[in-house]
Amino acid sequence: MPHSQPNAVERHIQIQGVDLALAFPDAFTFKWIGQRDVLDQLLASWLVVDPNDIPLNPRLIGKPGVGKTTLAYAAAKELAKPVYIYQCTMDTRPEDLLITPVIDKGGGIRYVASSLVTAMITGGVCILDEANRMSEKSWASLAPLLDTRRYIESIVAGLKIAADPEFRICVTMNDDASTFEIPEYIHSRLQPQIYLDFPEAEEEKRILRENLPFLDVDILDYVVNFLQRAHSHNENYTVRDGINIARYAAKRIKSLEKTKANRENLLQQAVVMTLGEEALAYLE
Ligand SMILES: Nc1ncnc2c1ncn2[C@@H]1O[C@H](COP(=O)(O)OP(=O)(O)OP(=O)(O)O)[C@@H](O)[C@H]1O
Ligand SMILES: [Mg+2]
Repeated sequence: MPHSQPNAVERHIQIQGVDLALAFPDAFTFKWIGQRDVLDQLLASWLVVDPNDIPLNPRLIGKPGVGKTTLAYAAAKELAKPVYIYQCTMDTRPEDLLITPVIDKGGGIRYVASSLVTAMITGGVCILDEANRMSEKSWASLAPLLDTRRYIESIVAGLKIAADPEFRICVTMNDDASTFEIPEYIHSRLQPQIYLDFPEAEEEKRILRENLPFLDVDILDYVVNFLQRAHSHNENYTVRDGINIARYAAKRIKSLEKTKANRENLLQQAVVMTLGEEALAYLE
């Protein structure tokens, strides 16, 4: 769950004579369950093995809802650094990614650092979330940051800002269609590629239990059985779908408590109302 944002006091920093307002880190209680492999791969990418070494910029790839954002956040938290999640969209412009000029009350210009630039300055971790939604123009502004130069250049603020040595970055990408093609020179700066797959039954059950500890075990079992059958047919249903089915089923069961409604029927309805009639194929 998100904690309340400490927006009351603005944080500022002076860089090359320019006053920059900084962003606030994200604070969630996300915990990564199972699949230790991918967590180790991500942490290894960020490791530096020599004073002359630099961290890599890994790319987390997988279907929507498979756990990419959760993994990135949990790994960043293991490093005990502040974490900044930047949600990328089709409309993300280079200045949104870097530094935005804002008119202040007195009519002057104020410069506001993005969560990415704040992470660079404060030695935090930046997660560029759903980065494949960004256009090539926005990617271009990150090219020097993602190679050995490790700096960005803000045209609007007239600043060149180097990343703190503690700065780490990773990007998450869906393998769905609603995205731009990423240019080759950016691909080669986002390595290694870490693939997330569906969890095994036992793991999937632990993930559901961690996310929904207040639900009855029979609901979670029903959902895990459904998901596992769908996974075995390579259907794109993920843990997030499972969490939504279980949540809705529990709400329906609770709201019809007094009517002796059939539990099995309500579970089945929750599946159909979450994913559509096609999902019935994966029920027993
Ligand atoms: N291994 C895991 N441990 C803990 N929670 C998990 C795990 N895998 C998935 N989840 C849960 O599944 C849900 C979806 O995960 P998440 O949002 O990280 O997926 P995503 O791959 O980033 O999805 P999208 O591509 O849509 O952004 C979250 O509620 C998350 O807590
Ligand atoms: Mg995500």
